[in-house]
Amino acid sequence: MIASSDSHAVETVFDGVDPHALAQAVGTPCYVYSAATIRHRIASLATALRSRPATLCYAVKANPSFAVLQLMAAEGVGADIVSEGEMWRALRAGIPAGRIVFSGVGKQDREILAALDAGISRFNVESADELASLQRLASERGRVAHAAVRVNPDVDALTHAKISTGKSENKFGVSIDEARRWFAGSGSLSHVRLDGLHVHIGSQIVDVAPFRLAIGRVGDLWRELVAAGHAIRSIDVGGGLGVRYRASDRAVDMAGYVSAIREALTGFDGALLLEPGRYLVAEAGVLLTRVLRVKQGDERQFLVLDAAMNDLARPSLYDAWHDIVPLHETPRSMQVYDVVGPVCETGDTFAREREMEACRPGDLVAILGAGAYGASMASTYNSRPLAAEVMVENGRYAVVRRRQTFDEMIAGEQPANDWQIA
Ligand code: LLP
Repeated sequence: MIASSDSHAVETVFDGVDPHALAQAVGTPCYVYSAATIRHRIASLATALRSRPATLCYAVKANPSFAVLQLMAAEGVGADIVSEGEMWRALRAGIPAGRIVFSGVGKQDREILAALDAGISRFNVESADELASLQRLASERGRVAHAAVRVNPDVDALTHAKISTGKSENKFGVSIDEARRWFAGSGSLSHVRLDGLHVHIGSQIVDVAPFRLAIGRVGDLWRELVAAGHAIRSIDVGGGLGVRYRASDRAVDMAGYVSAIREALTGFDGALLLEPGRYLVAEAGVLLTRVLRVKQGDERQFLVLDAAMNDLARPSLYDAWHDIVPLHETPRSMQVYDVVGPVCETGDTFAREREMEACRPGDLVAILGAGAYGASMASTYNSRPLAAEVMVENGRYAVVRRRQTFDEMIAGEQPANDWQIA
């Protein structure tokens, strides 16, 4: 038993595995993912959508762990990819090409060709230049690419500026006017079948209103295009569903979200696609880490963990809140800590002035909500090898990525003794 009031969330993720034994066996820091929680999140999204069935294309960037992707494949979930590397992972994990969509403002020719060769289901096209490239490359390959216009609806997602994508000042998508022009000229596209609409306005969105506004604008465009004689076979409403990182957070109102989709797209009987990332995996993961030191500064008391910003960048990048739960078994008095990592930057801070139970060196703590954009954004900054990743289920665990070794960390590097002229 864990003493903390957050014990329920922790115990759900560990799913019968003893964190102390796990930390002993695998070492810390390590990411721990609950297979059952991911399955549960998929099922709960599918349930919310039962009145309007949709194809789920998991946003691979949230957590591209091979084991997570295999689980998605087994559950029949497709993939939203933004690079050839993500496609490669998704295909290798068994996600069929026919369930893969390709988003992103900077698709390279090489990547477009690889996706055409793999036969992915559709390209979410983000610029006129990309549309021209797709037409040229598809005709070179003698293939017809299915494409959706990524519409930038100029809607404020009311989320962190760094993860907001649907305002006209953002680099993503094209205006509704430009989308109209693409369809008007689509007759000249011999190798691109422009028959879809796509929108994604940002991430960690908890208000239904921006979704309603954005999808509403796409719905209006759909009606207009159909009236003009265009066949629209798919509408992809993106990802962005927010989750609760702390007890006081609001979760997105799923019923409201689904009814916003249904209302905006009444009468649309083509394929509805969703690209959830965070919603499926965030709450399924924790970063398990050990206290290295408790340091009394002049003004603050610091809890120095063996995890750092290179392992989990969200707090330093977005000032994101993650619950931090000590895993000792008997309750202790409360203390206030700045919870930091060993990296040589003041930004390497997981929490400031956080009230939590007293910790001692050697204690284990779990950083919650780390299943999405945790390991996927990790680096080896300060030459810290990538953390191990573990999947747990029903009292058992499997290491799904072992801790990177120093040799692996410098693989590909060599001394500057092979000089060439360029
Ligand atoms: N579709 C597209 C086109 C996207 O760009 C994204 C996320 C998603 C779907 C999935 O969004 P989600 O359902 O996970 O919100 N690193 C940031 C989040 C960046 C999101 C980027 N795009 C964070 O840690 O908060």
